[in-house]
Amino acid sequence: MEKIIVFYYSHKGSNKYLAGKISESLSCEIEEIKPRINIFILFLMNIHLGIKPLKHRIEDFDLVILCGPIWMGKLIPPLRCFIRKYFIRIHKLIFVTCCGSTDARKDEKFGHGLVFREVENILKDKCLICQSFPVGLVLPEDKKEDADAFMKTHLNDENFKGEIQERFDNFLTKVNKMGR
Ligand SMILES: Cc1cc2nc3c(=O)[nH]c(=O)nc-3n(C[C@H](O)[C@H](O)[C@H](O)COP(=O)(O)O)c2cc1C
Repeated sequence: MEKIIVFYYSHKGSNKYLAGKISESLSCEIEEIKPRINIFILFLMNIHLGIKPLKHRIEDFDLVILCGPIWMGKLIPPLRCFIRKYFIRIHKLIFVTCCGSTDARKDEKFGHGLVFREVENILKDKCLICQSFPVGLVLPEDKKEDADAFMKTHLNDENFKGEIQERFDNFLTKVNKMGR
């Protein structure tokens, strides 16, 4: 059975929640990625001082699941630093995001598709899959594209059901098929 670990960064909690669900469902380790300076506004300007050392030895794990948000259509500094710093020690990686962009808009300027391509480009065949969990999945039909609504919505036990739960179950099936 593969040894799996989830690493996450989250600002408002949705990716922390999602990472927790993944770790719980796969009964695997989880660790937060901690930036040396955690100032959101600086990240948006791409100003950062890297991340603190990890508690776990990444090379001991067959599969890393990396989870975090997307801002301004970019791979955010804590996640980019993580990938670059530990590239050599990562065997295989799955990238997961709870983001704002819907699947229909994934290839637009602020879509998660651009970030997925960047992750795939850096990691090449170390990257197994990229999986999105757009916040809109927990919103009613008329609010799915409403930026104001999805910015104010955070994943929790109350809203994690229906469409997002189904996507999550399919995601787990895929991960389990990849060598567990
Ligand atoms: C300043 C800012 C910029 C954002 N830009 C994007 C974006 O370009 N694309 C996207 O899909 N989501 C975008 N989002 C939405 C976040 O990815 C989404 O709210 C995510 O769930 C937040 O995760 P967290 O709760 O773990 O911090 C943005 C959110 C903020 C606050």
